[in-house]
Amino acid sequence: MLHLFIQHAIGSIAVCLTLLNSLQSHSPSQSFRVSVSAAGVGPAVAENFPDPGLALDTSNGSETWYAFSTQTGKINVRLASSRDFSNWKLHEGYDALPTTPGWARRSPHAGIWAPDVNQRPDGSWVMYFAAVGRTHPQKHCIGAATSPNVTGPYTPLDEPIVCNLPRGGNIDPNLFVDPINNENYLVYKTDGNAIGHGGACGNTKSPVVPTPLYLQLMDPQDLVTPIGQPVYLFSNANSFKEDGPNVERPCMVYRNSTYYLLYNAHCFASPQYRIDYVSCRVGVDTHTGILGCNWDALKMKQQTSKDHTLLQTGDVVSGTKFYAPGSMDVSPDQRRVVFHGDVNLEWFAPHHPHSVHRDRAMFAGEIDFVKSVLRVTQLF
Ligand SMILES: *[C@@H]1O[C@H](CO)[C@@H](O)[C@H](O)[C@H]1NC(C)=O
Ligand SMILES: *[C@@H]1O[C@H](CO)[C@@H](O)[C@H](O)[C@H]1NC(C)=O
Ligand SMILES: *[C@@H]1O[C@H](CO)[C@@H](O)[C@H](O)[C@H]1NC(C)=O
Repeated sequence: MLHLFIQHAIGSIAVCLTLLNSLQSHSPSQSFRVSVSAAGVGPAVAENFPDPGLALDTSNGSETWYAFSTQTGKINVRLASSRDFSNWKLHEGYDALPTTPGWARRSPHAGIWAPDVNQRPDGSWVMYFAAVGRTHPQKHCIGAATSPNVTGPYTPLDEPIVCNLPRGGNIDPNLFVDPINNENYLVYKTDGNAIGHGGACGNTKSPVVPTPLYLQLMDPQDLVTPIGQPVYLFSNANSFKEDGPNVERPCMVYRNSTYYLLYNAHCFASPQYRIDYVSCRVGVDTHTGILGCNWDALKMKQQTSKDHTLLQTGDVVSGTKFYAPGSMDVSPDQRRVVFHGDVNLEWFAPHHPHSVHRDRAMFAGEIDFVKSVLRVTQLF
């Protein structure tokens, strides 16, 4: 997400070159984009559509899926839709958040990241997003915007809803509706690597700045008013070897009487970027719902297990091999997911020409259990 730090991803070049070579040997005359998707199901949105947030609209008597992406060029929030979760249409040129809030920088400098869209009890919709501020152009805060329609255009609230500037700002908001008590929790990241001391994603040089994840209870009607204090989940601070410069993009999932906190570890600009998770079993790890989970302790216990990595570079699902997968968001029924992965691997090559663009395509998949372990089981 922090394009300034791209040049620091050089540490992972050996892995990249191996990937490039293997692709080249398969299809010497084709572009990488084609060779990545030709082998299997491939992306749902086959162009740059990073950090997708998923929404399901059933208000019209039928199901329509929507996905919203991080700012791309002059479009603050891109929109794609699908009737069947398999065939997706990109709404070319449409901006779901055409106006940025007063506290944020103006388009196209607002740095709108990782929108997350959810329906409120009255049927209207709220979009959470991160933007940089007019008075703090290096740091993001989390804002919210609302619309009577899922497609928008969304109208931003005047003030950010989470903004911890001394700790680096905040990004990656994601709403979780706990099926046990119907409470609404916003999970998000405090963006410590925005104030790091250099290296990959600005935060591999000592002292490493923590990038803690938090859970915040929200007002159940408006979904934009925080209630009480945020609850700390875990950070990269005690686990640099496991996580590198940051943990980010949390997404809470509830399946099989277990909370799964999905998150990305490592720098987004490196092939090590991957989706991990920590689980908390109801009745075993907690006796008081989600607030009874000791996420930090559970992470320490689980992070050295192979099972705790959901998706990483080189993994193959439905014939499609992934590179730097990240930013997973889950459907209301906790089964369908969207996420992004790189499809133009030339971008990872050292000293690539400026004409080479990074393309993080959107994939649409399903998560389910394989021998009791949560996995991405198929693509659509
Ligand atoms: C709602 O349904 C009608 C009739 O099927 C259709 O024409 C319209 O495009 C739908 N609207 C949305 C927002 O999906
Ligand atoms: C909501 O969508 C409907 C159907 O597409 C449209 O007629 C209406 O103008 C939209 N409302 C707003 C506020 O954009
Ligand atoms: C659900 O969790 C239980 C207890 O951890 C486990 O034994 C069981 O295999 C899980 N179910 C599935 C479908 O994985």
